[in-house]
Amino acid sequence: MNIESLIARRNRLLGANTPLFYDSPLHLVRGEGVWVYDNDGEKYLDCYNNVPCVGHCHPQVVDALCMQAKKLNLHTRYLHENILDYVEQLLARFDNSLDRAMLVCTGSEANDQALRIARMHTGKQGIICTNATYHGNTTAVVALSSIFGPQASVPENVRMVPWPDSYRTPDNLRGDTLASHYAAYVNDAIRDLEDKGLGLAGMLVCPLFANEGLPDEPNPYLREAIGYVRDAGGLYLADEVQAGFGRAGRWWGHEGSGLVPDIITLGKPMGAGHPLAGLVARGELIDEFLEKEGYFNTFGGNPVSSAVGLAVLKVLEEERLIENAAAVGEFILQGFRELQQKYDSIGDVRGQGLFFGIDLVSDRDKKSPDAAEAKRIVNKMRDRGVLMSKIGEHGNILKLRPPLCFSKENAEQLLSVLDEVLEGSSV
Ligand SMILES: Cc1ncc(COP(=O)(O)O)c(C=O)c1O
Repeated sequence: MNIESLIARRNRLLGANTPLFYDSPLHLVRGEGVWVYDNDGEKYLDCYNNVPCVGHCHPQVVDALCMQAKKLNLHTRYLHENILDYVEQLLARFDNSLDRAMLVCTGSEANDQALRIARMHTGKQGIICTNATYHGNTTAVVALSSIFGPQASVPENVRMVPWPDSYRTPDNLRGDTLASHYAAYVNDAIRDLEDKGLGLAGMLVCPLFANEGLPDEPNPYLREAIGYVRDAGGLYLADEVQAGFGRAGRWWGHEGSGLVPDIITLGKPMGAGHPLAGLVARGELIDEFLEKEGYFNTFGGNPVSSAVGLAVLKVLEEERLIENAAAVGEFILQGFRELQQKYDSIGDVRGQGLFFGIDLVSDRDKKSPDAAEAKRIVNKMRDRGVLMSKIGEHGNILKLRPPLCFSKENAEQLLSVLDEVLEGSSV
C-alpha cells in the first residue's frame, strides 16, 4: 500500500488531525539499535526516539517479553515475583527515602496519580507547573499542559509560572540571579493560591525542563523554587517521564539539583516501548493513599511488563549505556557548538547527556525564534536519513534524544548531515 493511500486510510479511521511527523510522512516497518527502516528498505538514523532507550527491538528485552507472555500474564491481585523483583531493583536506584512504587501504564497516569497523592496528603488543591510544558493527557494533567496550544482556560487550582529560560531572559541574567528571577514567580503563585483559599499541594516539573526547551542551569532555580514550595507545605513532584533512565547521562534528571523529590513519575523508556510507567515515593505517601483512597490498575505492573522492566534495567547496566550517554552526549554538544560558530541561524545550543535543544533564530542579536527554519531542517534531515523533531514555546528548537546506544560514529554522521543541511540554508 502506498503512502498516499495509507494516509487516506489513517485519516478516515483515526481522524485527519491525528499528528504525523514530517511533510513526507514515514512508513516505518522495522527497527534495530539506532536504526529504523521504511517499507522500501531505506534506513534512518534515529536521533529522536527516547522510548527504545536500549535500542530498537533489543533482543534481551524482546526475549524477556516473549518468555513471560508464553507463561502467564495477569493483573496484580495475585502474588508474583516479577513485580517484586522489578520494584526492588528499581527502588535500589533511588535515594533510600523513596521506598515504595506504584506501577501504571502511561506517563499521564503516573502524573495523574502523583497529583492525587499530593492533594490527598496535603489536603490542599493548588498545583504549580510551568507555562510551556506537557505532562500528559488525562483531565487533571492536560490542565497543566500548554505546549500543544494555549489552554482555553486554566483551572482555578492550577498556576502556570514562566519556565526558567536561560537564553531569552531579561538582562541576560545568569546563575543565582536567573534562579531568583524565575523562582519569585513560584513564590507569587503560592501566595495567590493561599489567598484564594486553595493552598499548595505541590509543584510538578520535569527536572530538565525538557518540553520547555532544556534551559541551562535549571538546578539553582529548582533549589530556590522547591524551597518555596516546601516552606509552604507543598510536595516536589518530579516528572522523569522523559528525563529518567539515563537520558541526561546519569540515572535520573533530578540528581542534578541534589534535591530528593517527594514523588517521581516515570514512563516512556521504562519499558523500552512496552507500556510500562509508574511512580516512586516515600512509603508513607503511598501507604496513606492506599489506605484512604485505594488503588488498582488492571495492566500496571503485570508479569510481562515487569519482566520487560527488569530486562531494560539489566541492559542499561550491562551495556553501560548511561556512561555512553554522558560521553557521546558531550561529543555531540561540542559538535553542535562548533556548528553554532559557523552558522548564525543557531542562536543557542543546550543539552545534557543524550538530550539536546538547538535554538534557531532569524536574528542572533534579537534572538528571534525561527520556527520556519526548524521545520525546514527537520524535514531536510529526514530526507537525508536522520530523524529528529522540534519543540519549545515557539516551535523553533530542534529536539534530539536518540536511543542511549548511540555511538560516536552515529554522532559523526548526525553532525555531518546537519552541517550540510545548515549549509543549504545559508547559501
Ligand atoms: C514530561 C512528560 N510527562 C508525561 C508525558 C505523558 O506520557 P504518556 O504519553 O506516556 O502518557 C509526556 C509525554 O510526552 C512527557 O513528555
